Amino acid sequence: MASLSDLAWQRALRPLLFRLDPELAHRMVLAFLAGVPVVAAPADDASLSRQIWGVRFTNPLGLAAGLDKDAAAVAAWQRCGFGFAEVGTITPRPQPGNPRPRLWRVPQSRALINQLGFPSRGMETAARRLARLRQRGLTLRLGVNLGPNRQTPPDQMAEDIAALAQRLSPMADFIVINLSSPNTPGLREWQAPGLLQTLVARAFPDRAGPATGRQGGKPLLIKLAPDLDSDQLGAICAAAAHLRVDGIVATNTTVARESLGVPSPHPGGLSGAPLKARAREVIAQIYRNTNGQIPIIGVGGVASAQDAYGHIRAGASLVELYTGLIYEGPGLPRTIKRGLLELMRRDGYRSIADAVGRSA
Ligand SMILES: Cc1cc2nc3c(=O)[nH]c(=O)nc-3n(C[C@H](O)[C@H](O)[C@H](O)COP(=O)(O)O)c2cc1C
Repeated sequence: MASLSDLAWQRALRPLLFRLDPELAHRMVLAFLAGVPVVAAPADDASLSRQIWGVRFTNPLGLAAGLDKDAAAVAAWQRCGFGFAEVGTITPRPQPGNPRPRLWRVPQSRALINQLGFPSRGMETAARRLARLRQRGLTLRLGVNLGPNRQTPPDQMAEDIAALAQRLSPMADFIVINLSSPNTPGLREWQAPGLLQTLVARAFPDRAGPATGRQGGKPLLIKLAPDLDSDQLGAICAAAAHLRVDGIVATNTTVARESLGVPSPHPGGLSGAPLKARAREVIAQIYRNTNGQIPIIGVGGVASAQDAYGHIRAGASLVELYTGLIYEGPGLPRTIKRGLLELMRRDGYRSIADAVGRSA
């Protein structure tokens, strides 16, 4: 059943905001949410909690990267009931991103298309904000998503990632290297095993040594595209295991358009409902390729408890969403958590962890 806040969003706020240019609406909402103070979220049911990389998440649901690129409204994500938020993509130095327009809605398909190209205030702003939030008692688990500046030549990519990790790791529970935005030329090539190996070895030299595990650093994840074929995915999973990557975020937006259902002239990355099936396939393939040994954050098209549960059963230990929040509103995390408890009860699972990978 829809809650009052879901109804207020769907009947009143969303129609108003959808009359505005998407990026303007986004900025207005974010500016409003930036004023939310740090308040403890109501306790989650213990059966939703997860312990991954030694980090305790009170529930498996997180905000996906891209919505809060500069960590402007993190307290609001805690208040919405998310178990964690991934902020970013953050670049070392500030940059404006691509020219506008660069964000489009496709309401009939419950989708978004974006070609933002990492607009970022840079790592110093994000680091200051995150440090302040921690001082104010923020308990939300935080992932920090890292990407290179657009002007950075390929042979300097590792230096950008190393600088970001050094500056932002202290405030993060895990870090994610974004290798999969379609809007930064050349970025997706870093998913290839050879380049991935070079990147990790140069940006995180302590990982290249003997297999003694993480040496004081934060869990390191890589974020992959949904547009890789099975052979590519297999090779990347093998490289990730070899490099002792701690987790995989699957998936970013897609450049494919077949699933959209309507013609669209807009370039860039497609997200939302049309991405769900492909994201789930990729999650299941990664789970099988890695024998369930590398935790997966499943993301793509989640807008209901069934969607989140499906990604978990396909192999995701944690689940994130972005586009679903735009269409369903800020009550969505609570609705999903309630629904997950019902689905677990139906299937006889006492912990959400028991559902992971059951349909992979
Ligand atoms: C407008 C927009 C901006 C995004 N920016 C980023 C980004 O900066 N970094 C990133 O890793 N993913 C970014 N994403 C991808 C999302 O994190 C997510 O992987 C993708 O949208 C699929 O999830 P969804 O269907 O729930 O939106 C962005 C997505 C959207 C819609």
